[in-house]
Amino acid sequence: MNCLISAGPTREWIDPVRFLSNPSSGKMGYALARAAVDRGMQVTLVSGPTALKAPAGAEVLFVETAREMQEAMSQRFAKADLIIMSAAVSDHRPETRSKQKQKKEQMRMTLDLVANPDILMELGKQKKNGQTLVGFAAETENLLPNARRKLREKNLDWIVANDVSEKDRGFQSDFNKISLLSKEQNEMDFEYQEKNSLARKIMDILCP
Ligand code: CTP
Repeated sequence: MNCLISAGPTREWIDPVRFLSNPSSGKMGYALARAAVDRGMQVTLVSGPTALKAPAGAEVLFVETAREMQEAMSQRFAKADLIIMSAAVSDHRPETRSKQKQKKEQMRMTLDLVANPDILMELGKQKKNGQTLVGFAAETENLLPNARRKLREKNLDWIVANDVSEKDRGFQSDFNKISLLSKEQNEMDFEYQEKNSLARKIMDILCP
């Protein structure tokens, strides 16, 4: 079984010393990659910049921007049986990326942004029979309704609903509390626990 996982944040450069990003550590995606390797799957991990050690036994492709992540994911998508998009993709990027460091006195105080591709939405459109597509929903309010909407709109089979408003879980933490929702309207709520242990339980459900 071939498993393709994205993890970590993306970086959207303003100039050579500045970027837009988010606090994703990549821990959940890396834990999922390790859990998939442990189950004997062929694993490709497409990773944004993180401080984590590459999971042994997985092929790891490092990317920085959302567009690089999209290219890496779509190149490998057709061959994958299970695709998990756990990366925290920056929704926007600066309209221009300056080649030179911008001097502070000369910088405009307004940043012009353009939309990045929605990688998962595009993968959802290409999904074929036999492929299982899984997304994450990072929310600070209306967790389950927002997660269900993303599950439907992005043509997913499963979504991990992730409340990122609490300090003791989610971004950066080794722990998380999540719910796993399926397109058949099943909902599984998991206790607060280590991401490593959650990753194994998620894999048990995705690949029984
Ligand atoms: N995602 C993606 N490409 C983007 C944005 C998000 O592939 N440009 C994926 C994420 O990896 C995640 C899912 O879509 O699996 C939901 O991401 P999330 O940040 O929760 O939501 P958004 O779709 O970005 O919507 P919003 O920011 O309005 O909540």
